[in-house]
Amino acid sequence: MRHIDSHLHTRGESQYVDDAPPPEEMLHAAVFSSPKAHGIIEGLDLEAARATDGVVEILTAEDIPGVNRFGAIFQDEQLLVEKKVCFVGHPIALVVANSPESAHRAASRIRVEISDLPIVVDPRVAFANGDLIHPPRTFAIGDVDAAWDDCAHVVEGSCEIGGQEHLYLETNRARAVPREDGCVQVFASTQSPAAAQKAIAILLGIPMHKIEVDVKRLGGGFGGKEDQGTHWAAMAALAALRIGKPVQLVLNRADDIRMTGKRHPYSSDFKIGLSGEGMILAYEARHYQNSGAFADLSPAVLERTLLHSTNAYYVPNARVMAVPCRTNLPPNTAFRGFGGPQGMFVIESAIASVAEVMGIPAEEIQEKNLLRENDHFYYGQTAFNCRIKRTWSEACEGFDLASLKDRTQAFNEAHFELKKGYALMPVCFGISFTKIHLNQGNSLVHVYQDGSVGVTTGGIEMGQGISTNMASVAARTFGIREDRVKVESTNTTRIANMSPSAASATTDLNGNATMLAASEILGGMKSVARVTLGLEPGLEEQIEVRNETVFVDGSETGLDWETLVEKTYYAR
Ligand code: HPA
Ligand code: CA
Repeated sequence: MRHIDSHLHTRGESQYVDDAPPPEEMLHAAVFSSPKAHGIIEGLDLEAARATDGVVEILTAEDIPGVNRFGAIFQDEQLLVEKKVCFVGHPIALVVANSPESAHRAASRIRVEISDLPIVVDPRVAFANGDLIHPPRTFAIGDVDAAWDDCAHVVEGSCEIGGQEHLYLETNRARAVPREDGCVQVFASTQSPAAAQKAIAILLGIPMHKIEVDVKRLGGGFGGKEDQGTHWAAMAALAALRIGKPVQLVLNRADDIRMTGKRHPYSSDFKIGLSGEGMILAYEARHYQNSGAFADLSPAVLERTLLHSTNAYYVPNARVMAVPCRTNLPPNTAFRGFGGPQGMFVIESAIASVAEVMGIPAEEIQEKNLLRENDHFYYGQTAFNCRIKRTWSEACEGFDLASLKDRTQAFNEAHFELKKGYALMPVCFGISFTKIHLNQGNSLVHVYQDGSVGVTTGGIEMGQGISTNMASVAARTFGIREDRVKVESTNTTRIANMSPSAASATTDLNGNATMLAASEILGGMKSVARVTLGLEPGLEEQIEVRNETVFVDGSETGLDWETLVEKTYYAR
């Protein structure tokens, strides 16, 4: 199936938040944020900004009518800072003006006086200071301390893992439109409309049902908008309800990079012990996570690091400590892999180090220690339906690993300025949310009188193609053409309490919900088909819709989809 939006994308006709025609009298917002990494606000001079042409209003923490505290796991964040700034880019004030240019010009005229506090950006320093998001967590199996004596090779080391900016093409943005009776409609670029809705309710002190968050699609998310699309949606909603006019907030690239969190940098220690035959007998690691200034999703990211710290290997004795350390950086956040890559990188570094000491290729150690059926992971789960050995050997064959090294070396000898390297690593990744309750999907399916179908799910289209998949699921379940199906925006008034689109599970969860919803509707339609075709009660099971036509026992009946839809409507 072709991508459902390809005709729009290639013509530049797909509408993102600020492509929709602006509502009348729409205002524009810009964020004024902290120029310092840590300190106390002693004075805020808004006078010159207020006097700037086109400025309508400047909002600060005092203008937040509800509770100025929110966060997905711990509610430790303020939308606009009250007293203490904790990172460069920490939002302090929101300028609302009649053009984006005026808003930015005014924001640049705000003066803030901040008395300095010590700045910490190294997680090990934060750890030493006891400045933690929560206490350390340790997962362990076997007896690590006793195992070292049995090892022929023991290697210790440490590694530094850097952060990473998501660099979604579409920067964070939102448009909020005030509606009757204190309601607000928010068009936002977020992977989590329900999280935005919930945070706005708390911050504005209104019930969630007064807030409608709508997301047609994102120009990329990669985790960067799992939790951090919320802030900008909330700021736009705050301004819109306060002023009574539509307000749009679009971060420019520099502001987006400055104000939002990245992949978590980690500083980690490892110790690995192998038998003379190259079997891993013991592994120990300590992960100091650079969480940034607030919890955001750091505890969940940290947990996933623990769950992936032995990667795809069987390790009989393992002990891994991980701790989220508070630093003066923007709150680090979800990013594809969600802590898994950091956990895996450290044990891969340990294997590379011990391979060097043993004078053998790392691949030899990797292959020997791959998980087998019924092996225990070090947190208690058992490897089941385990195909990693087959995956490994097929990959090595497919990429001709045996000659790859020679080819790489030959290339490097033949080229002075250009060099190639190669690395091989297995990946064992846990699909789905580690918080069990988040693993739920939603779908609302409408069949209209003309036989066309509308599908709304809890999943966000962010370039991964979920809309195409949802249309395909609905079409196949109903047995109709894909072009009969339209996938609607994701919207909190049509889908309540959806999970964030994240954890590599969104298409599976919402696709199954769509299949169930469509099947339920189809069940009713089959009853109508049975009556229409004059079949005995109970024969619904032999009815099937394929190629837009009703079949009974595999034979075509001549009853088509559109007629069946019409008859079902009349049958109420
Ligand atoms: N929780 C929340 N978000 C996520 C997860 C998770 O386990 N994995 C990837 N994104
Ligand atoms: Ca980001």
